[in-house]
This record gives sequence, structure tokens and C-alpha cells, in this order.
Amino acid sequence: MKIVVVGQGYVGLPLAVAAAQAGNIVVGIDNNPKRVSLLSSGVSPVEDIADSDVSSLISENTYSASTDFGLCADADVIAICVPTPLDADDAPDLSALKASVESVAKHLSPGSLVIIESTVEPGTTRDFVLPLLLAGSGLDVSQIDLAFSPERIDPANKKYTIANTPKLVAGLTDKAADRAVEFYSGFVNEVTRCSTLEVAETAKLLENSFRLINISFINEIAQMCDVMGVDVNEVISAASTKPYGFMPFFPSAGIGGHCIPIDPIYLSHKAKSVGAPSSFIDLAQKINDERPGYFVAQASALLGGLGGKKVVVVGVAYKPNVSDVRESAAEALVDGLRAAGAVVSWHDDLVGEWRGEKSVALTASFDLAILVNVHDGTDLSALGSVPVINTKGGVA
Ligand SMILES: NC(=O)c1ccc[n+]([C@@H]2O[C@H](COP(=O)([O-])OP(=O)(O)OC[C@H]3O[C@@H](n4cnc5c(N)ncnc54)[C@H](O)[C@@H]3O)[C@@H](O)[C@H]2O)c1
Repeated sequence: MKIVVVGQGYVGLPLAVAAAQAGNIVVGIDNNPKRVSLLSSGVSPVEDIADSDVSSLISENTYSASTDFGLCADADVIAICVPTPLDADDAPDLSALKASVESVAKHLSPGSLVIIESTVEPGTTRDFVLPLLLAGSGLDVSQIDLAFSPERIDPANKKYTIANTPKLVAGLTDKAADRAVEFYSGFVNEVTRCSTLEVAETAKLLENSFRLINISFINEIAQMCDVMGVDVNEVISAASTKPYGFMPFFPSAGIGGHCIPIDPIYLSHKAKSVGAPSSFIDLAQKINDERPGYFVAQASALLGGLGGKKVVVVGVAYKPNVSDVRESAAEALVDGLRAAGAVVSWHDDLVGEWRGEKSVALTASFDLAILVNVHDGTDLSALGSVPVINTKGGVA
């Protein structure tokens, strides 16, 4: 099959590579020319995909990258994997989705299957994407197959890949769903069909809201444990001996990344628009937002005030072993420490530059180190006897 994957980021590139390795001819379209030329020269901008994966597919002529939406013409499948962040008012920002769907629509051939993988609020595929496709293509609804299949990429997860992570699929019509199931079955072991687009859209938001709520809950439990002088990580491993009805979540400086802090807001936004409650999501969001401030207060208490104190924040990526800094809790932590008068620098083995600043070397000259997301292999020994606050649990 001829496959087009729009958006060659954390979601789109692994999908394009998996589809090409399954024997399809794949074009990865991205509106970022730098990313396209990087990919075309065989360099992967995503940690989970090796350069050799990209370069060998290019040499086999089964994968190519382009900025040209004209290549959508005659595609069997067009999968859209562009960002769906929040706008300045914390409402869903569908500008990239709109732009990409409009670009696809201009070149859409009758019979192509369009699949939305980007996270969206329930109703978006039917009420937002379909009208754009119809208006931009001039095609009749009977000539368009449209499906939604939420991505479940977990960057840096070595155990769960595209192949062994079950995939949800829903179609505007039975035919669209059948075709989407057939496409994904070529490289995903288990594909589950949902009865409507809205079920699949909401399932994705439930998954990430579940994580937001439970991580915020364990962060509040961690604060209780701090006050009680109880080791939260020992509590979690003790509770985890229960073989049913418990699932461990672990404390942190707060949830980062472009999904878990954002996707639940898509669900609460929809809930508010239809007059339904979303209290759990709202509370979890509040607890998450307050978490960095908790460590600013802890640091201040430990050092007897932060004025002029030299603090190094270790690991500013949103989670260990990735270089992605989007929505990282380190941002509010660094800003909070600075607002309290501390002289703050940061170290990250995978993030060389962040917010116009460079990673500094770890030395024993700091008054305090705060561990946020320490990557495997980061050597903390150079800190010597510098006091350490570990946001994953406990003051060392
Ligand atoms: N990465 C994850 O772990 C993850 C998890 C859950 C949900 N998601 C969702 O997946 C979707 C994609 O996220 P991502 O992490 O891959 O984003 P990303 O930023 O890594 O990649 C998106 C790519 O799309 C390109 N792009 C933007 N607008 C475009 C346009 N109009 N035309 C063509 N290309 C365009 C960008 O240049 C970029 O390369 C989002 O909806 C996100 O919420 C991602």
C-alpha cells in the first residue's frame, strides 16, 4: 500500500517506520523543512528510532520524507500525527490539525483512507475533521473513508513498542473501520475495534486522565508521607505486594510531557462544553501545578532561605532517558527557586540547551541539588557532599 504519514515527530516517525518495515511504501510529510532534510539524510530526530532504521528504509526506497502534500494523491492511507497542544487560554489548540487536514484535503483522491492519530476531544473527527476534508477536497462523503486511531507511543519504553501495544480503531463507517483494522494489523499484534469514533477518542483521554489523576494522587500521598516521616517508596512497594486492585504510581516533581498534563484538559474542556462534571481532572491538575512549589518550599526550609543560594536542578527533561523538555515540571521548579532568590543552574546529559541556557557540569560547589528526572548513566558522584532533594521521594 502507499501510505502517507503527516507529522514526523514522536508519534508519526515510529508509525512511518513500522508501516514501511511491514512492506508498505511510506512517505513521511512534515511542514518543518529542517526535519525533512535531516530525515532525508538518514538522521532520526526521535530517540526511539535509530538513524540506521531510517537510512536502510531510504536505501530500500520504502521510506522518504517530504514537505509536499501533493504526495497524498492516490495514497491508500493517510495518517495524521500532528501536535494538538493547548492555546494561551488552556483550550484545545487545533491549528496544526486544521492546517494539516486542509493541506491533505487539497490533494485527496476518492477512496483514500484518512486516519487521525492526534489526540482530540470527543466529536472532533466527525464534527471538525470531516467538514474540512469535504470542503477542501470537493469530494462527497461517500468517497471519503475516515477513521480515528489514538496513538499510544510511550517514548523510551523498551518493553512496549508499536507492535505489542494494542491499538484502538474506529471508523466513520464500517468500511473505514475495516480498512483501518486491515492497515494496522500489518504491524500491530492486536487491533481492537470501537463502535464509534467518539468511543475511541474518549478512550484515549480516559487513559491519560487516569494517569494524571493517579500520579497527582501519589504526589499528594508523598507529601503526607514526608510530613509523617514515612518513606513513600517503601509504602508503594509494600502496597504493590497486593496482587489485585492496586497499581503503583511513583512520586515526582510533577507530570510533564505533551500528553498527560494536556490530554485530560481536552476531556474536561469537552465536559464543560456539554455541562458535565470533571472535578477529578480539575483537582489533579491543581495538585500537579502545585507540586514544583512544594519542592521550592522544601529547599528553602532545608537551607534556611534561598537568597543567594547556589542550587543545581538535575534532569530537566520531562521524564528520564528522553531529551524532550515540553511541559517539564523543571520549568516551574527553576522559576520558583529563582523567584525565591536562589542562583539556579541545571544539568542534563541529554538536554544541552534549554530556554536559552546551557547545561552546567555537576560539581561539589553547590549549596543544594534537586533531582528531577535523572537519566540512566548520569553520574551524581561529582556532587560530593552537596545536600540533595530527590523529587522521586525523600531528602538525602
Ligand atoms: N509523543 C507522545 O508520547 C504522545 C503521547 C500521547 C499523545 N500524543 C499526541 O500525538 C500527537 C502528535 O504528537 P508528537 O509527540 O508526535 O508531536 P511532535 O511535535 O513530536 O511531532 C509533530 C510533527 O508534526 C509536524 N507538523 C506540525 N504541523 C504540521 C502541519 N500542519 N503539517 C505537517 N506537519 C506538521 C511538526 O513539524 C512535527 O515534526 C499529538 O496529538 C499528541 O498530543 C503524543
